[in-house]
Amino acid sequence: MTNNVILIIGAMKDVELNLLLDKLDLKNVIEEKSCTFYEGMLFDNEVVLCHTNVGTINAAIATQIAINRYNPKAIWVEGMAGGHAKNVHKGDIVISTGVINLNSIKTKYLNEGEGSDPFSWELKRYGHLPQDEESIVIQANDGLIDFARCFENEFINNNPSSKVHYGIVGSGDVWNKEVDLIKHFSDKYHTLCEEMESAAVFQVARYYEIPVIAIRGISNNEVYGETYERELGAKAQEYVLCMLKSEKGR
Ligand code: 5AD
Repeated sequence: MTNNVILIIGAMKDVELNLLLDKLDLKNVIEEKSCTFYEGMLFDNEVVLCHTNVGTINAAIATQIAINRYNPKAIWVEGMAGGHAKNVHKGDIVISTGVINLNSIKTKYLNEGEGSDPFSWELKRYGHLPQDEESIVIQANDGLIDFARCFENEFINNNPSSKVHYGIVGSGDVWNKEVDLIKHFSDKYHTLCEEMESAAVFQVARYYEIPVIAIRGISNNEVYGETYERELGAKAQEYVLCMLKSEKGR
């Protein structure tokens, strides 16, 4: 198989893939039970836009099917996320240096009647390759981070009130609205934001050693009372379009 495809993953078609689909020169659509693949050309790049639907399980299924079918040269996960860190605001972009699975938890022993203590829960990296178990962070690809960095100025020129951040993305089947818990993740694990797909995509990509990166637009931040705005799904797509415009020949 040729290995020329960039696989671009988004969970919600109407707000996280709409701009990319508008620009795609569509060649073929493949529908699976939980996901859909849109094959085509975008600014001279061979791309597959993958609509996964929400959550880590859907994201894992879609990533595995896509790898089997397209053997992609890179995987970009894009979409929205909730801000964790204090300076991360609605409309900003977070580029992943790595991802932490917020679903992978070990609790301490508490006896009957002793309740539950989420702040003492330890994040783990269950189910990974034995050599990867040392760190709970699943690393993004350095080359892709450097590449993404090249478009920071272009994005900021078009979005003067936005910032571009680089760091850890928390990911799991959870929408945290408890500010103390959000601050706990940000203080202890240095998460900049949270979303629901990258942990799965990164884990599957790691098995196949396929370069992977997450590009997330911040759609809400409970720490500041910034409420969810789904139209902000446009931001990560705008960033991805900047990257695609110059991807050719790489
Ligand atoms: N917490 C978790 N997921 C979020 N998303 C946006 N904001 C948040 C948040 N605060 C993303 C997820 C999912 C969809 C609901 O939006 O990745 O796909």
